[in-house]
Amino acid sequence: MAMMWAGRFSKDVDPKVNDFNSSISFDARMYRSDIEGSIAHATMLGEQGIIDKSESEKIVEGLRGILADIDSGKLIFDPNAEDIHMFVESVLTERLGDTGKRLHTARSRNDQVALDIRHHLRGECDEISALVRELIETIINTAQQHYYTVMPGYTHMQRAQPVTFAHHIMAYAQMLSRDLDRLADCRRRMNIMPLGSCALAGTTYPLNRHRTAELLGFDDITYNSLDGVSDRDFCCELASVLSILMMHLSRFSEEIIMWCSWEFKFIELDDAYSTGSSIMPQKKNPDITELIRGKTGRVYGDLMTLLSMMKNLPLAYNKDMQEDKEAIFDAVDTVKMCISTFIPMFATMTVLSDNMRRAAAKGFINATDCADYLVKKGLPFRSAYKITGTLVARCIELDTTLEELPLTEYRKLSDLFDEDVYKAISLDTCVMQRNVDGGPAPDAVARQVEALKAKLR
Ligand code: ARG
Repeated sequence: MAMMWAGRFSKDVDPKVNDFNSSISFDARMYRSDIEGSIAHATMLGEQGIIDKSESEKIVEGLRGILADIDSGKLIFDPNAEDIHMFVESVLTERLGDTGKRLHTARSRNDQVALDIRHHLRGECDEISALVRELIETIINTAQQHYYTVMPGYTHMQRAQPVTFAHHIMAYAQMLSRDLDRLADCRRRMNIMPLGSCALAGTTYPLNRHRTAELLGFDDITYNSLDGVSDRDFCCELASVLSILMMHLSRFSEEIIMWCSWEFKFIELDDAYSTGSSIMPQKKNPDITELIRGKTGRVYGDLMTLLSMMKNLPLAYNKDMQEDKEAIFDAVDTVKMCISTFIPMFATMTVLSDNMRRAAAKGFINATDCADYLVKKGLPFRSAYKITGTLVARCIELDTTLEELPLTEYRKLSDLFDEDVYKAISLDTCVMQRNVDGGPAPDAVARQVEALKAKLR
C-alpha cells in the first residue's frame, strides 16, 4: 500500500518495516475519538473560512458515515494501514476524492494522536470511576449488614483489638474513594485540547482552537505547541492512579485469600467465583483474588514502561511515544476486568460471623480495655498496662482468657478490680465503647457510611 507521505520517497517501505512501524493493531480502538476529533477540526476549519463551508460539511458527513460503518461492522480496519489516523483519512479520501484531502489542513498526526489519546482516555477514566463507585456501593451494602459482626483487628498479623467486619471492609471503601478523587483529578488535567500544535510549531492558519475545544468538550487548550505534542504526563498520571488502585485491590484480595483459608475461615466464596483443583478433590481456590494480586504487578509494569519511555525524549514528538498506547490500554483493560470480577465475587461471598467472633475471643484483644478499666478507676496508664500484662501471662499459664479468669486472680494484682471488670472487657463492650469518629462502634461505622454515601452523591 502506498503511504500517504510517499511523495518524498523513491520506493515502498520494506514490509517488515511496515509491520514494525504500524500501530493500527492497537490504536484502532481510538477510532471514535479520532473521527470525532476530525469532525470538530473540519467544522472549525469551515467556520474560520480556512476551507469552504460546503467542503467542511461534506467532510463531516463523510466522517459520520465512516463512524457508522465501523460501528456496524461494514468497514473493517486495514491491518496494513500505518495507524488509525491514516486509515480514517484514506477511507475519507477514497469516498470523497479531493475534498477528503482537505481535512488534514493545519493539523499533524502529532497533535492528532495527542488529541485522540486524551479524548479516549477521559472516557476510560469515566468508565473506571463508575466501576469504582459500584464497588464502593457493594462494600457499603455488605458493611450495613455487619455493624455488629465482631472480628479481631490485627497489627503485625497478630490479633490486636476488636473491630467489626463492617469497619474492616469500610477501610477499603475509604481507599477506593481516594482513588475516585485521584481519577477525577487526573481527568481534569487530561481534558485539555492540543490540536493546533500541529507537528511541533503551531501553524500559520487562523485556527480557533478554543472553538475546537468547545466542540469536543475540553475544558481548555494547551498553551505551548512543543508541549502540546510531546506531553504524555496524563498517561503516566493515569497509570500511577491505576497502580495505586490496583495496590488497594491487591491488599483486599490478599485478605480475602487469607479469610477463605481453613486457618481463618472468616468467609466462603460462592462456587461461581472460585475454582477447583485438577488433582485435589477437596480444593476450592480463590483464583480471582490471586489473579488480581498477580495482575497488580502488570499494571505497575505499565507505569514503568511509560515513565521509562519518556525519561530521555528530547522535544518534541518522537516515535518512541507510540509505545504509550499498549501500556496505558493494558493498564486500563486490566483494571476494568479486575474490578468487574471483584464486584460480584464480593457481593456473593458468605460472611462466617461466628468464626470471626470465635477468633476475636482468643488472643487477648481486650487487654487494652482491661488496662483502660484500671485507668478509669484512677491508676496511671503505664501501671495499668503492667498489671494487665501480668494478668495475660497468668492466663497463658492457666490456659484461659481474661473473660474466664476468676476475680480472685485479678484482685491478687490490684484491689481496683471488681465484678464489673467482666462487662468492661466483654468483646461487645470493647467495640461499643469505641464510638469515637472513625472508630469501630456500630454507630460510628454508620456515621462513616453516611458520610461516604453523601460524598458519592
Ligand atoms: N501512530 C503514531 C503514534 O501513535 C501517530 C503519530 C505519528 N507521527 C509521526 N510523525 N510519525 O504516535
